[in-house]
Amino acid sequence: MCGIVAYIGRKQAIPVLLEGLKRLEYRGYDSAGVGVMDGGLKVARAVGRVRVLEEKIDETGGLPGTLGIAHTRWATHGGVTEANAHPHRDDRGKGHGIAVIHNGIIENYAVLKKYLEENGHTFTSETDTEVLAHLIGELYRGDLEKAVQAALREVTGAYAIAVICEKEPDTLVVARKGSPLMVGVGNGEYVVASDSSAIVAHTTQAFTLADYTVAKLTRESFRTSTIDDVEITPEVRELEFELAELDLGNFDHYMLKEIHEQPRALRMCLQGRIDVRGGEIVLGGIAQHARTLANTKRIVLVGQGTALHACMVGRYLMEDMAKIAAEADFASEFRYRNPIVDFGTTIIAVSQSGETADTLAALQEAKQRGALVLGIVNAVGSSIARETDAGIYLRVGPEIGVASTKAFTGQVMTAAMLALFIGRRRYLSQEYVGKMLGELAAIPDKIQRVVDASDTIRSIVAKHVERENWLFLGRGINYPVALEGALKLKEISYIHAEGMPAAEMKHGPIALIDSGMPAVFIATRNSQYEKVLSNIAEVRSRGGHIIAVATEGDGHIGTVAQDVIYVPDAPEQLQPMVNVVPLQVLAYHAAVMRGKDVDKPRNLAKSVTVE
Ligand code: F6R
Repeated sequence: MCGIVAYIGRKQAIPVLLEGLKRLEYRGYDSAGVGVMDGGLKVARAVGRVRVLEEKIDETGGLPGTLGIAHTRWATHGGVTEANAHPHRDDRGKGHGIAVIHNGIIENYAVLKKYLEENGHTFTSETDTEVLAHLIGELYRGDLEKAVQAALREVTGAYAIAVICEKEPDTLVVARKGSPLMVGVGNGEYVVASDSSAIVAHTTQAFTLADYTVAKLTRESFRTSTIDDVEITPEVRELEFELAELDLGNFDHYMLKEIHEQPRALRMCLQGRIDVRGGEIVLGGIAQHARTLANTKRIVLVGQGTALHACMVGRYLMEDMAKIAAEADFASEFRYRNPIVDFGTTIIAVSQSGETADTLAALQEAKQRGALVLGIVNAVGSSIARETDAGIYLRVGPEIGVASTKAFTGQVMTAAMLALFIGRRRYLSQEYVGKMLGELAAIPDKIQRVVDASDTIRSIVAKHVERENWLFLGRGINYPVALEGALKLKEISYIHAEGMPAAEMKHGPIALIDSGMPAVFIATRNSQYEKVLSNIAEVRSRGGHIIAVATEGDGHIGTVAQDVIYVPDAPEQLQPMVNVVPLQVLAYHAAVMRGKDVDKPRNLAKSVTVE
């Protein structure tokens, strides 16, 4: 979704802003723009990539100035045009030279626009953001901070904004509610951004703005207050990751890098948390809720997309190992269903970015209804991490590739630890937990073996890469893996793929099978192996081309499947972490072979901050 970068300091702003926008490119966008203060306000905007904007700035001879704002826009209100790109300005004739960049949605923009038009404002774009620029201009009485506070008291919706004004050429005002925004605190300079990846090159000291908070930044100091002007002191903390973690290294794409990182990332996820010998799990973040969790009656895991698939695996783990009734639901559906949630319910919000608007809204709803709300989140200090009662961080490092990979395996790993943690407090023996923890610790090496077999997977993909329709089928705990395999393929290669429970085929979808249609079966040896073999036979006899993900040493599978990807054996509950990896690799190679931009798939945003 939209990315924000803003700078005030002593350096030239443009290099900082453009470098920041490039760091945020992974979030997804379709146009970009900058506004720089240098005597007056100068704005440049362009449809397309940041490099197009960069060329445009170069053509004009550059934009000097040490205060500026920059934005990548992912269109919501209004099409992908230069006029709709940010920054937006207040009415030039009557205005004050105010420029605004915004991530989020101003829900009451239509009412505000009408009011402003009646007061003589004319609009040049279709965006909700322009309304905010005019509103700040309308309320400006010589103090930008106060005008922003006053404007934000009038709006409903979500926002992260950065505002500059010609009449205050040494002031940057930023604010947020519901959309992410972080302020990096340097020496005589501030770098503000949607996430820390655009900040770490300049400083490792940063604070996250709380909802309904405004920060006024000058080169000398900063002041933070609520939109009602109550002064507050933010907590400045050390950013945890290194700039090196954001670089591609020797990989062609972030997705490939992150697929390869999984063994190391999962070791980090486990580090210091499992005691194999003692059969104990140490989860500091949720320790104070151990008793409530042991007595919880029902667990609901909520997330979107890949995170939802991790929730679905988590549901099996909670039922099987913690022996608690569990459900997994789209956060977006759960939120609006008038769900039955009470004090006996625990909600687990699963999210890589910690900023997904639907997941955030779902947990807020559940909290209001009295549930204990936990988070399984990657991004430290993110909105979901802060809004939950307690939580467990994935610790898999920043995920830049739009297609989520290491976050998924990290989410499943974390859910497995949590299920064992709860189960141990209910009825699981120390011996069983110790054995399972040993198996958890063995998963990274098993994933390494799958990653090392990438060439075999690539040669299988090469045979089918022209096919436009694929099926992914699995049963039980491997059903979400099938869903995840299909999602990975469609989102980066634009191939139509469907994931479903293998047994469901007979109830309609089998009509889709035509000669040579690739059908990927998750067919590792587990309690439903024989049933999966029957499902394979049903598809094969109708002409489908079977690609099986199977257990190493399975001598039979090669007689029923035309292509086999062998993976190491693991306990059934943990097998999804291994089984998903060949599907990630498969999708990656398919996208590369089809010439797609793996890390920037069309229409997609890494972090979906609107509902
Ligand atoms: C798919 C993908 C998305 C995200 C979803 C939730 O590869 O990345 O489906 O999983 O948008 O995002 P988070 O985990 O940030 O809440």
